[in-house]
Amino acid sequence: MLTPKQWRAAMGAFPSGVTIVTSWQNGKPIGTTISAFSSLSLVPPLLLVCMDYKNPALTPIEETKVFGVNILGCDSTHLALHFGKDPDADRFASVNYRARAGGAPQLSDAPVFIDCTLEHSYEGGDHKIFVGRGIHIEHAHVTAPLLYHKGTFPTFEPR
Ligand SMILES: Cc1cc2nc3c(=O)[nH]c(=O)nc-3n(C[C@H](O)[C@H](O)[C@H](O)COP(=O)(O)O)c2cc1C
Repeated sequence: MLTPKQWRAAMGAFPSGVTIVTSWQNGKPIGTTISAFSSLSLVPPLLLVCMDYKNPALTPIEETKVFGVNILGCDSTHLALHFGKDPDADRFASVNYRARAGGAPQLSDAPVFIDCTLEHSYEGGDHKIFVGRGIHIEHAHVTAPLLYHKGTFPTFEPR
């Protein structure tokens, strides 16, 4: 039987980008750092995120059926940590964002933002798999991506 420590060490060897997934709870913005993100389908435009059942963002997304994926740039390590570890209630106090009518919060510092509606959700062990349909995209600015590997944020070195 594999232990969570063994599993985390193996999965952490696979590098990913970093996103902040946002939504609303009682009219207030909420957000959580998510590295378990992937494109899923081109036609229709689908993506997926994997969210721990203990993640406080899970219920708001299920209730509103709206979420946004903010893909982070290399200068946003502080945002990844802020939305991953700081107290949930304070997360938007110091962060600039905006939202389209009916859409999710878009962080001003995110190079790419994808507004989604919740299309499906599936059980995945201790996580839930949310499948979102992209309905609007914003390309705010061009920058190198923020990477995540073995629990660290390595520097991106293009060849
Ligand atoms: C770099 C990074 C990546 C993370 N990726 C995920 C993820 O893919 N899925 C998830 O449910 N939580 C992930 N988390 C943890 C959540 O962001 C965190 O548990 C959530 O924001 C709630 O914070 P709390 O556990 O302090 O209440 C990640 C955290 C960090 C810092």
